[in-house]
Amino acid sequence: MIGFSDTFGSRATIIFLFICLALVQNPAFGAKTRHFKWAVESIYWSPDCVENVVIGINGQFPGPTIRALAGDTISVELTNKLNTEGVVIHWHGIRQFGTPWADGAASISQCAINPGETFVYRFKVDKAGTYFYHGHYGMQRSGGLYGSLIVDLPEGEKEPFHYDGEFNLLLSDWWHKSSQLQEVDLSSKPFRWIGEPQTLLINGRGQYNCSLAAQFINSSSSICEFRGNEPCAPQILHVHPNKTYRLRVTSTTALASLNLAIGNHKLVVVEADGNYVQPFSVDNMDIYSGESYSILFTTDQDPSKNYWISSSVRGREPKTPQALTILNYFPTSASKLPTSPPPIAPLWNDYNHSKAFSNKIHARMGSAKPPNTYDHRIILLSTQNRIDGYTKWAINNVSLVLPATPYLGSIKYGLKNAFDHKNPPEDFPSDYDVMKQAPNPNSTYGNGVYMLSFNSTVDVILQNANALAANVSDIHPWHLHGHVFWVLGYGEGKFTKEDEAKFNLKNPPLRNTAVIFPYGWTALRFVADNPGVWAFHCHIEPHLHMGMGVVFAEGVDRARKVPNEALTCGLTGKMFLNNRGH
Ligand code: C2O
Ligand code: CU
Repeated sequence: MIGFSDTFGSRATIIFLFICLALVQNPAFGAKTRHFKWAVESIYWSPDCVENVVIGINGQFPGPTIRALAGDTISVELTNKLNTEGVVIHWHGIRQFGTPWADGAASISQCAINPGETFVYRFKVDKAGTYFYHGHYGMQRSGGLYGSLIVDLPEGEKEPFHYDGEFNLLLSDWWHKSSQLQEVDLSSKPFRWIGEPQTLLINGRGQYNCSLAAQFINSSSSICEFRGNEPCAPQILHVHPNKTYRLRVTSTTALASLNLAIGNHKLVVVEADGNYVQPFSVDNMDIYSGESYSILFTTDQDPSKNYWISSSVRGREPKTPQALTILNYFPTSASKLPTSPPPIAPLWNDYNHSKAFSNKIHARMGSAKPPNTYDHRIILLSTQNRIDGYTKWAINNVSLVLPATPYLGSIKYGLKNAFDHKNPPEDFPSDYDVMKQAPNPNSTYGNGVYMLSFNSTVDVILQNANALAANVSDIHPWHLHGHVFWVLGYGEGKFTKEDEAKFNLKNPPLRNTAVIFPYGWTALRFVADNPGVWAFHCHIEPHLHMGMGVVFAEGVDRARKVPNEALTCGLTGKMFLNNRGH
């Protein structure tokens, strides 16, 4: 008896000390630090039933899903076990307030982690929502380096909508050619385009050359055969009738814009990029690389049947079959094929359909409103260019080439020669015809930074144009690191001052990714309130690789001391560290 109370007493003391410690570490009660130990390495895998090499994490593809509560701290101890390449991981949609060096953008927030080295990413997830992470060095996202990051509301808080269960779909595209070879293609003279993906994946699973889904379950023909235990077997969604489910959907495609549909079911969109939206219902939805959504669907259909879930290519002439999986109603057998054919996606170039969808997205009532006016406006024209015979993308005629020393350290410590200190252009010539092929003979490479005043309100007008070929203008989903922005509007042709009257200042959605439609413009507004250096770029991997991005910096002097590990590369970085005497 005495022994018992003794043990109890010391246990109580330990628990008390533990709680004190927890409170010291995390002032928000209940918040935790979640530790992960990851090894990034090339592994053999068959994402689409064809064996290949992917960049996996801890032997898995896609990488493990991180799940945390808002207010938690994530700590990922990442070891690079690739043989010859550096690596970084970007936490897409996490703003990194107070930890700009943990943003995981090579040459911007940190040096790539060398093979054999370990870097600890430690950051707070402050906002509930559907996010993901991916490689941000070279084209490693194309190589398969990605996974999901889901942040739930803290204990005791409720979502403003009800659901009985949830699923997560991470959408991607897959090439049989390695990401290294793709990089060689894109930077060759003459240029070689990587072509369309071989396969679309859902949660890292797809079926190469298997356009008619029916075949992959029934046919005995080798490649389309359904092989239950293989990594390429579709992940089936098991549901009960008359329930409401939350479906988290994220696109980490390297190239493809997608359309998602569930046969016979309506989709109610409730979240976009970690922000609540005013719920609206659609039959299918477009999703661009870098975006994430939560949708609700109700299982109100005949429960003796199963239904197709499809992901199809939009915005480029599709040469890649739809990705499919099954919505399986209880108690129907999961191997019973849907009786109705897979959903038919809108025509690839039906941009009106895409615009109609984008224009339906509004902030949920009660969301933060944008400031009524801006302090600083930057207009960014996207063009395809040739520089010395190489094919590139340029922004206001400058094609981004990242420096060897990461900006964060070089700006924070005033290193003079790490990058070009001339301000990059904030506009383009007024006589530029965005509807016509333009040679842009004066394009250059550059690595300048748009310096934003801390806490200023910044408008960015993204202006699309004709590419090098006649009558071609692509879709570009632009993603901003370190912030959310309001999408004030989309328009056709060249943006003019008068278009401002059309801005939505009442309920513009908050996002971290927004698309520019062919020959159109998109207007964004954000507050430069996050000390650090932030990439803003097209989320299409080959486009970024070809220079389609810019760099913003604000309040860098307010950032705490940048850890040495984030600085140890590039000549100026190394010289600085030698002087700092680390
Ligand atoms: Cu998800 Cu800079 O990217
Ligand atoms: Cu692009």
